[in-house]
Amino acid sequence: MPVRIFDERDLERVGAVLQSGQLSSIGGAVTAEFERAFAEAVGARFAVAMNSAMSVLHASVAAAGAGAGDEVICDPICVFGAVATMYNNAVPVFVDVDPVTLTMNPDLIEGKITERTKALIVTHVWGLPAEMDRIVEIAHRHHIIVIEDCAHSLFATFKGKQTGTWGDIGSFSFQMSKQMALGDGGMGVTDNEELAKKLDLFGGAPTFHSVAYGLHWNYRITEQTSAIGLAQLEKARDYVNELIEIGKLYDEAVGNCPWLTIQKAPYPAQHTYHFWAAVFWGDRHGIEKEAFQRVLQEENCTVNIGYTNMPAYKHPVIAQRMGYGRGCPLDCPFYTGSHNQYPEGLCPVAEEVIPRLVLVYTFSHKDFHKRNAEALHRVIERLS
Ligand SMILES: Cc1ncc(COP(=O)(O)O)c(C=O)c1O
Repeated sequence: MPVRIFDERDLERVGAVLQSGQLSSIGGAVTAEFERAFAEAVGARFAVAMNSAMSVLHASVAAAGAGAGDEVICDPICVFGAVATMYNNAVPVFVDVDPVTLTMNPDLIEGKITERTKALIVTHVWGLPAEMDRIVEIAHRHHIIVIEDCAHSLFATFKGKQTGTWGDIGSFSFQMSKQMALGDGGMGVTDNEELAKKLDLFGGAPTFHSVAYGLHWNYRITEQTSAIGLAQLEKARDYVNELIEIGKLYDEAVGNCPWLTIQKAPYPAQHTYHFWAAVFWGDRHGIEKEAFQRVLQEENCTVNIGYTNMPAYKHPVIAQRMGYGRGCPLDCPFYTGSHNQYPEGLCPVAEEVIPRLVLVYTFSHKDFHKRNAEALHRVIERLS
């Protein structure tokens, strides 16, 4: 562990679906059972399963009422929240991250709120919860819907309460790399019945039904995926506990190294390590990145350096206004905000930190990580 275990339990459940001949969630009971079980596991009232987390994010932004002319506050390390905003033809507005937690900096939110702001999407990036009490308080004071992107943070907690249950909607991913992997899939959770109904128009309702309420996408999950979901949910806590152990191995290997700062929270939070993350500041301590990379290789230490090397707003889909064409959403005639939303230096912390990110994907054998963490420790000793 952790390696994903697909065994008789999964086969039994999928077999039952196939034998029933009822493979669609319309008319089937397995997806509804998966939704109930997932809601209970994270501590939410309602859950709506879909075919991916991007689908859940799209539906969540729509449920928040954001569309052409509106703004959605996003964080700039991952691009997903911003892309979901653009699915709805709304404008992503970026709030910079904290250099240590790498999550949205609550101090900077209020300065970005306008009369156009409808929602805020906060990413618990790599599995570390953002500072949710402050973020929710600020957003709700301005009547803004909070969507938590929990694609990395299954079972992570902030002040003892799970991510996905602090804001108005939590979005989870079951894509194959994630803590709970079903091939593909996603889940939206909420305590708000109205929002649950709106999510259901994308995830549950037959199209004939959902079109009565406006334009919705068919993002239904299949009964077979939900069947695997039920089986994997029984194992997911064990996976996550093991990922936390793996994260600790790297934390211990790095210790208080001044030029490699670990992603951690100054507030009570349980990180669940979709990736273990740190930031390389070696150049400020006389250690060049090239030397770091060379010694990593010599010590056979596997890390990823630099992630995408750019903040979300420099990705072509946003920077070159590819969206739905004709420059929308920024150049949409309904949009009354600044059309120069994404200048160089917009989020100076993200711009500085992203190329310096040191990431380890945690979901593989613990023995590998023991060796890899020891190798990282040797790298630090050699260069310090
Ligand atoms: C932070 C984050 N949000 C959303 C997604 C989208 O997930 P999915 O592939 O299930 O659509 C991902 C996928 O990698 C992600 O990392």
